[in-house]
Amino acid sequence: MTSAIEVLAKQAMKTFGDRRNVGYKLCQKNFDKLWNLINKITAEDVKLDKNVLDYVSRQPTPMCVMDILENKDITIAIFILKHGVTMPMHDHPGMHGLLKVISGMVELNSYSLKTRSDHIAKANEEIVAFRHRPVFLDHDSPACILTPSEKNLHQISCLEGPAAFLDILSPPYDVDEFGRGPRPCTFFKIVKSKLCTESGDVIEEVQLSVMENLPDFSSSSLEYIGPPLKDYSG
Ligand SMILES: [Fe+2]
Repeated sequence: MTSAIEVLAKQAMKTFGDRRNVGYKLCQKNFDKLWNLINKITAEDVKLDKNVLDYVSRQPTPMCVMDILENKDITIAIFILKHGVTMPMHDHPGMHGLLKVISGMVELNSYSLKTRSDHIAKANEEIVAFRHRPVFLDHDSPACILTPSEKNLHQISCLEGPAAFLDILSPPYDVDEFGRGPRPCTFFKIVKSKLCTESGDVIEEVQLSVMENLPDFSSSSLEYIGPPLKDYSG
C-alpha cells in the first residue's frame, strides 16, 4: 500500500513540478487536492513518536529539522521546535508553502509585504508589511498557506512543545528557478508598528529591517525514519 506521505509527495510534485512549462502558474485544483492531503497527515504517518520528541527536548539547539525530500521543484521537511522557542521572522521569496502542525501547538504570525511580491530584501532597506491576525495551530488545524504575495513572511512560536510541523515549499530556497539569481532566506526584525483600526485579518502595519547578523537560532538535523519516498529527484 502506498503510504500517506508518498501520496502527499506525489501530489506535491504534480502541483509544483515542471511549472516552467506553464509560466510558473499553479493549477488551483491540484493545489486544493494537496491542501486536502496535507490536512490528513498525522505524526504517525511520518513516524514522529514520543521518543523523537523526547530526543528533541534534550538537544542543545532550539530546533531540529528532518529533511524528507528535496529536489529542484519542492522541499518537504519536518521542523520540530522545543517548548517556548520562537523561530524568528523570515521570508520565502517567490515561493508557495504549506505548513501543517502534526504535534504540539504553535502560534503563527504571518506578514504580507505591502509592495512587490517575489522581492528579495536588501540590508538597510525600509520594508513595510501587514501583520495578519495570529493563528494558534495544533494537529487538528488545517494547513496554513503562504504565497509569493500573501503571508510570505512568518514567525513561529512553540506554545506547547516540542511542536512539529510538516512544511512543503516550492521552489526550494536557492534554486534559481526564475533566472534572477538565488533566493536566500532573510530574517527580519520589527522597527516600528502601527495598529490597523479596520476590523479584519490585518491587525498592524509594520516597518521591518533586515537582520544583518543571523539571529541566534541554530538547528540540528534529524534523520527521517518514516516511510521511504521513491526517487523524486526529477
Ligand atoms: Fe518559514
